[in-house]
Amino acid sequence: MDHFTYRDGRLFCEDVPAADLAQAVGTPAFVYSKATLLHHYRALRDAFAPLDPVLCYSIKSCSNLAILRLLADEGCGMDVVSGGEVCRARAAGADMRKVVYAGVGKTDAEIELAIGEGIGWFNIESEQEFENIAAIAKRLGRTAHGALRINPDVADARTHAKTTTGKKETKFGVDIERARRFFKAYGKDPHLRLDALHLHIGSPIYSPEPYVRAVTKAVALIDELKHEGITITALDIGGGYAADYETGASPSFQSYADAIVPLLGDFKRGGGTVILEPGRTIAANAGVLLTRVQYIKQGGTKKFVICDTGMHHMIRPTLYDAWQFVWPCEPGPAFAPPRRAKEMGMDGLALCEVVGPICETGDYLALDRPLPPIARGDLLAVFGAGAYGMSMASHYNTMPKPPEVLVDGDRYTLIRRRETYDDLVAAEIDPTG
Ligand code: LLP
Repeated sequence: MDHFTYRDGRLFCEDVPAADLAQAVGTPAFVYSKATLLHHYRALRDAFAPLDPVLCYSIKSCSNLAILRLLADEGCGMDVVSGGEVCRARAAGADMRKVVYAGVGKTDAEIELAIGEGIGWFNIESEQEFENIAAIAKRLGRTAHGALRINPDVADARTHAKTTTGKKETKFGVDIERARRFFKAYGKDPHLRLDALHLHIGSPIYSPEPYVRAVTKAVALIDELKHEGITITALDIGGGYAADYETGASPSFQSYADAIVPLLGDFKRGGGTVILEPGRTIAANAGVLLTRVQYIKQGGTKKFVICDTGMHHMIRPTLYDAWQFVWPCEPGPAFAPPRRAKEMGMDGLALCEVVGPICETGDYLALDRPLPPIARGDLLAVFGAGAYGMSMASHYNTMPKPPEVLVDGDRYTLIRRRETYDDLVAAEIDPTG
């Protein structure tokens, strides 16, 4: 459920017409709904309420400070993967004890920063990393907590090869056999307390079933470790819960919870803390990318709809063959979309290639897409753009990044201004002075 709806054939974000926003801030622009962000966060929290989990929003999915602040004010923790994200979490006023820090390549400077900020857990990805964090904690006279990231060797067949992580052959974490040795070697370290486990099996995962297999393996390992005198006090089951890019295509929060919660009841009752790291389930459908059609061009049998945004602002279609719903913002009542679907079951649509201005053939938002009549100057919306849109945007072709707007009811706030051409060269140094 989100707050991007068509009324009389016009797209609204909450109570603001998308066309008014485009008029006010120009295009391209990312537009987020505050009500949707909060609704997603609260619905996920409520679905998992029996476990009273620590929800750590995955900053990488959509990292604007205003959005982080909104979630931090709700009591949400943060999942970070860099020193930059540690700083974002702090700037957003997050409770740093509810921050988990993942990533295979944490540098000494990043580790020092995170220890200094008193984060909750480092997700540990390798033996060398463990030794390094332990040594830094010792040098700083601090005690940090570590969650060993394990690969339960499960995968979802529908998860793209570039975003699956739970398999044995991955740069992330260690397999379960190696985890046993890991605890033997490092389980008693006084500076980096290895008292938690971490899983993240990929994203998006379109079914609860891989989580069930992964969590079952983790719980078995926790029991086994207990018999050896090692107590695991926290289990982080990661993120990756799918967002409804296509209406009804993803499991509800409740169906993930129904499958996962019973597996962790005993762990919770025994005093364990459960952590979740959702990103896209909160942010994806809370945002759209607005774009203005610049030109229509016929190329052989193909009709190209050429937009003022593309892979530099929304790389998911190009990078992961991801499908995102694209539709005009003012199609009129006859073409108001009843749902976001690959097959719209409407008359009068024509197949289009929705492409961007970047000088690459791979620069597209949608291929072979049935769309209503579209003319130069029309406004389109790329749906499901709240996650991994702006956060993965680049300056390729020296294009400024779009502004971001947060809508709240019938009001909106600019939460990031459009970049200028001067911004684009601001960090560069001209050696000639
Ligand atoms: N936790 C860890 C350790 C992760 O690596 C990720 C995502 C998440 C949580 C959050 O996953 P989410 O709930 O947002 O699916 N750029 C790709 C997705 C890459 C995900 C990377 N890690 C995309 O646009 O689909």
